[in-house]
Amino acid sequence: MIRLVVFDAYGTLFDVYSVGTLAESLFPGQGAALSVLWRDKQIEYSRLVSLSDPLNPLGSRHYQSFWDLTRLALQYACQRLQLELTPTRQKQLMDQYSHLDAFPENLEVLQTLQSNGMRCAILSNGSPEMLHSAVNSAGMTGLIDKVLSVDEVRQFKTTPQSYGLVASHYPVDVREVLFVSSNSWDALGATWFGFKSFWVNRQGLPFETLGPRPSHSGNNLKDILPLL
Ligand code: LAC
Repeated sequence: MIRLVVFDAYGTLFDVYSVGTLAESLFPGQGAALSVLWRDKQIEYSRLVSLSDPLNPLGSRHYQSFWDLTRLALQYACQRLQLELTPTRQKQLMDQYSHLDAFPENLEVLQTLQSNGMRCAILSNGSPEMLHSAVNSAGMTGLIDKVLSVDEVRQFKTTPQSYGLVASHYPVDVREVLFVSSNSWDALGATWFGFKSFWVNRQGLPFETLGPRPSHSGNNLKDILPLL
């Protein structure tokens, strides 16, 4: 029995590789490489700061917001690919990150869930401001009950503290939560945490060889509907 659906944001609701079009116009021939390296570095930095933070009663020492890590990751990716990132180009690419394309079926799925009375939330590494503008510009305001940012616990996914935010906002059992992510590592982390999990495998990739498989998987967001 599912009582709450929690969506990952980047890669699941919003297409992080849609920045590739702007990147390609700024750096012809390098747009795809830049968007992939940018994303990989962004996730790597999020893990690096969470792993290196001891359980410190004075608070986390290495944590920086996902927005800041995204900017640092962009700077690294441009250096690595030897692309000249002027302040204007950086601003253009970062602005684009606040207005990522949403995958085409998402609004319809969220509307269906809402009309069926199912509560939906987002749990994301994203900082509150960047999530707010992404949700707004995708027209999803009103369809999402709560947008939870790991910024509240200053720990990125896949730490238990980050997934635990759901329980601190909703009085539900973890087994009553369906956690939906296109990121296989996130679907795995959520499964380890105890959620029912759904991996949206848009690109036909193999699942991680590590750990249990998610409870469910499908090709796009519509595939969650028969479960609810
Ligand atoms: C998020 C990243 C991991 O939205 O996609 O949390």
